[in-house]
Amino acid sequence: MPATVIVGAQWGDEGKGKITDILAERASAVIRYQGGSNAGHTVVVNGNEFKLHLIPSGILHPDTTCIMAAGTIIDPICLRDEIEGLRERGVSCDNLRVSVNAHVIMPYHILLDGLQEEARGRSSIGTTRRGIGPTYTDKTARMPRSIRMADLMDDDVLRALIADQLEHKNIIIERCYGHEPLDPDAVFAEIAPALPVVRPFVADVRSMVREALANDETVLLEGAQGTFLDLDYGTYPYVTSSHPVAGGACLGTAIGPTEIDAVIAVVKAYTTRVGAGSFPTELEDEVGNGLRERGSEYGTTTGRPRRCGWLDGVALRTAAELNGATAIAVTKLDVLDGLDTVRIAVAYDINGKRHERMPEDLDALADAQPVYEELPGWQQSICEARTLADLPEQARAYIDRMEELAGCAVWGVSVGPSRDQTVLL
Ligand code: IMP
Repeated sequence: MPATVIVGAQWGDEGKGKITDILAERASAVIRYQGGSNAGHTVVVNGNEFKLHLIPSGILHPDTTCIMAAGTIIDPICLRDEIEGLRERGVSCDNLRVSVNAHVIMPYHILLDGLQEEARGRSSIGTTRRGIGPTYTDKTARMPRSIRMADLMDDDVLRALIADQLEHKNIIIERCYGHEPLDPDAVFAEIAPALPVVRPFVADVRSMVREALANDETVLLEGAQGTFLDLDYGTYPYVTSSHPVAGGACLGTAIGPTEIDAVIAVVKAYTTRVGAGSFPTELEDEVGNGLRERGSEYGTTTGRPRRCGWLDGVALRTAAELNGATAIAVTKLDVLDGLDTVRIAVAYDINGKRHERMPEDLDALADAQPVYEELPGWQQSICEARTLADLPEQARAYIDRMEELAGCAVWGVSVGPSRDQTVLL
């Protein structure tokens, strides 16, 4: 399966990092296709936990090339910190490459993200404040042209572009938000120390990807965030500013749709969401609190408590379709251990009408009442399960129901954070 997309089927935080890390063992390259340092991918190896924001989750495999493709956006300070943090822990980043065409998150984007959130007041999105929206806005606006990784290679080019950018940005920063203008020299000085660290990684990654595909090597296309945070298909405006859906992998990496062989949709056994926006199966009670505590549902990037709820089968069915999923990977099934019963929303009731898929106008989700199916829970811990036969009958029934709702096979089930705590089917 030369090109495989790994995509989040919910609102992010599905556990894509662990699944990518497992698959990366047999891949020649892992490529991030969208998003930036808003992501938080956790990988646990031999009891050591690694939290990655930018660098692809294949980095812990020394023979796997890790690529940040053109569709991603890069905060050079964050990238420097992540490279240095990994090196301090003995992880070589020699196989990391960043596209010359990836756009750069600058300090003024981070400032603007915060100012915009404040200005939204009660309708704030709850962004990660990592500068994501303002950077993608600049990329598409093209006036003045946004800064790309290629522009970081030359101090004079970079200084001139920062001055150009700030001529426009300072008008907005001062007049719209009443904030002091930024000084171009100070902005340059802020990112200058990161430049010598990140420059060696900037490369023409497209030819590397073409070569890997021509040699029939396996490449993984790693999504960040999740299907319902997609700019077009998510719960707009409570979304991110890129395209996490599998189609975004083609755009972000310049791999054609016909070259993708498999799409693994990663789905947590229950649902979580950080930030504002509709969440039909949200539980604001003891059951929800229990999921948060047992599942350590606190944001990797911002530390915010995640909103928790039952598995949303309507979202799962819809995500499988939107992504053309060929399989699902179920994560955190062990968090449901010990519950008397477990629930799955199999439809929504929206103003008296039954919906089995998410409506295209996602504003309607605000009125969606989940129609639940109740299944028996299981009372024992499943953390030690390594084969399907090790799982209690009730857990197998739960997985079967997820498979039916997704309309595709289960690739594997994660029963704990470590690599080996996985039931591969
Ligand atoms: P932004 O991507 O920082 O602009 O945030 C937009 C929305 O996406 C907010 O609700 C964030 O909480 C959410 N979000 C962004 N990145 C992630 C992620 O990696 N996991 C979960 N939610 C995310």
